[in-house]
Amino acid sequence: MNRTQLAGILSQTTFSDEDIVQLLGLTDLEDCRMLKDEAFRRTTELMGPYVYYRGLIELSNICTANCRYCGIRKANHAVKRYTMTKEEIVEQAVWAARQGYGSVCLQSGERHDEKFIEFICECLREIHEKTKSPLLPNGVGVTLSLGDQTEEVYRRWAKACGNPESIRYLARFETSNPELFHMLHSTPGTNEKNLEHRFECLRALRRAGYQVGTGVMIGIPGQTLEDLCRDIRTFQKLDVDMIGMGPYLRSEGNDLEALGQMEPKALMQLALNMIAVTRLVLGPVNIAAATALQAIRDDGRELGIEYGCNVVMPNLSPQRFRKGYQLYDNKPCLEDEPTHCASCLESRIQSRGREVGWNMSGSSRRYLRR
Ligand code: 5AD
Ligand code: FES
Repeated sequence: MNRTQLAGILSQTTFSDEDIVQLLGLTDLEDCRMLKDEAFRRTTELMGPYVYYRGLIELSNICTANCRYCGIRKANHAVKRYTMTKEEIVEQAVWAARQGYGSVCLQSGERHDEKFIEFICECLREIHEKTKSPLLPNGVGVTLSLGDQTEEVYRRWAKACGNPESIRYLARFETSNPELFHMLHSTPGTNEKNLEHRFECLRALRRAGYQVGTGVMIGIPGQTLEDLCRDIRTFQKLDVDMIGMGPYLRSEGNDLEALGQMEPKALMQLALNMIAVTRLVLGPVNIAAATALQAIRDDGRELGIEYGCNVVMPNLSPQRFRKGYQLYDNKPCLEDEPTHCASCLESRIQSRGREVGWNMSGSSRRYLRR
């Protein structure tokens, strides 16, 4: 493909699978720059100049699942398990709301016991009560990222948050290729995962009134450009509001080490291309710059913003918990406290021509139009 043909594809508003695969596979520097510029331009046009913060609270690393790529999977006995107290969790959310964060994301390993489900309800009630203010009359926005649950549990949590019209959930389907999904999740004897079930969870979340976010890992061993193209088609089919995507990274505690990882530079470019093409094809959805981008390059999240992301998830977990929540190796900011992370990020965002959307919850425009 020459530059004129590339410019032609980039000016389209609908894309064939062949266009998508071609764009995903770009490696030439100038070609990639053209893709980036078009994705950034469309992001400004569709989403405005703001990047929204979702403060990430990694509330527990206890997990009943055994996803083979994940550093905190159940079978990794080298990890010391922790759960933050309700007071610690609420304190972080209140801090975030005072700082002007429009929303927080509560994430943890997957558990199904009643004690955990009720614990989350209590946290949600208290966060709602304690973050209501004239600036945030409904309290700080909340996104949950707590794994596969039943529709009943999703409904209980939505109710507990006191603000069911703004509750959100993130559950990546990781890959739309069933064989690859199976390879990633098949460890006999544990809470095994099934791709169709993950899709069913995403549909249940929609029925329960959530803004729904999903995503994939990029550069999984054995994954092809055609697989990534199908991932994008699946985002379209699911009609999601938010997408979070990042590179697959090796992790010492995972069970895929033997399969290796793509070479970092190529992996980074593929991840950025995936973000940009998702922006071109999906239009007005929120796309988060995954922290995993920053594990490859210090300015990885800023590059994500240049390629079409409009959300970042600063880590709000207190420093003492961060080492216990390493889904992959080289996790950035392990030694930092939340105050440091937040101030460092704003200047990074401004350096790439964007503004932080302070005190704005940043609902996806796709959701608002629904
Ligand atoms: N590399 C990259 N991303 C990972 N995740 C988990 N483990 C890894 C890894 N080794 C991502 C998954 C999960 C999200 C919470 O973190 O996509 O959905
Ligand atoms: Fe449970 Fe990763 S396998 S959080």
